[in-house]
Amino acid sequence: MNHPSPGAPGPGQPQGMPPERQTRLTYGGYLKVPELLALQQTRHQPPHHDETLFIIAHQVYELWFKQALHELHRVCDLLDRDEPLRAAQLLERIHKIQHLLIEQIPLLETMFSSEFAKFRSSLSTASGFQSVQFRKLEFLVGAKNPRMLELVGDDDAARREMATYLDRPTPYDHFIRHLAREDHNVFGIPADALSRDTTRPHELDERLVNALEVLYRKQDEHAVNERYYPQFLMAERLLEFEEKLLIWRFHHVKMVERMIGGGVGTGGSSGAKYLAATLNIRLYPDLWAVRDRLGGLGRGYGG
Ligand code: HEM
Repeated sequence: MNHPSPGAPGPGQPQGMPPERQTRLTYGGYLKVPELLALQQTRHQPPHHDETLFIIAHQVYELWFKQALHELHRVCDLLDRDEPLRAAQLLERIHKIQHLLIEQIPLLETMFSSEFAKFRSSLSTASGFQSVQFRKLEFLVGAKNPRMLELVGDDDAARREMATYLDRPTPYDHFIRHLAREDHNVFGIPADALSRDTTRPHELDERLVNALEVLYRKQDEHAVNERYYPQFLMAERLLEFEEKLLIWRFHHVKMVERMIGGGVGTGGSSGAKYLAATLNIRLYPDLWAVRDRLGGLGRGYGG
């Protein structure tokens, strides 16, 4: 067998490229770029210029949903390992992902409603309504509505996959369990709060609001980096997660109104009317309620 002399260029190889580099991993190979770029398959005939924007935007969302789920699992693990500061740090990363999700909406809004109308029929019955990863995210963080399992139609595998997320404890459950382990009679977390039915959304629990009030007041009394600062930070970041999810929902419903007015959705819902109702979903009522107690600490505008 003939071996090329070291440094001799092979067929199609640039002059001076060492042969061992021929087999080295490339950017496109590592990231599977050719495979990725083959996935944007428009359906409309004749082709419509804006359909690629629509497809790519949705695909990018799905990738970020994947990463957000990956991070949320880790946040729960870190809380189980009583590492609240690291959990809070990762939640900040999730906030940045949420930021991207929110910021992508104006990009889609550069498409005129009249242009969207020209290729909308290509979506047929497909809708973000059926996004398995979005439902997994919702279930995991506490928006536990089992009726959502029906939306994936005949796709039983997707339904089974989504269902495994319905009974998972939320990051708030993991947080309260962590706080109970750190309690030492400081917060007074009741034992039954640790074994709640995790297939249900969180309901207001005044006893946990009491515990949060203790946590927040401690932070108010002491300097940053005091004993319970990581737990305080974690609580604030959970609230921020919920707030950002609501901002995304709000922005999405306004975009939908811009695109299709009061029309029904391709997924079969009442469209913007249905979406506006999702703005009432509350994930962590205790974290909101504790503000009423803390408001007494000082008066803001109008007070
Ligand atoms: C032109 C742009 C868009 C329009 C007109 C639109 C329209 C709608 C409508 C009408 C619904 C209600 C369900 C239905 O009956 O179909 C819906 C739900 C949904 N859409 Fe969009 N959408 C757009 C872009 C996006 C993008 C980029 C995403 C990102 C993944 C997305 C994700 C979702 C999700 C997750 C739901 C379910 C929300 C829930 O049930 O709370 N949508 N969309």
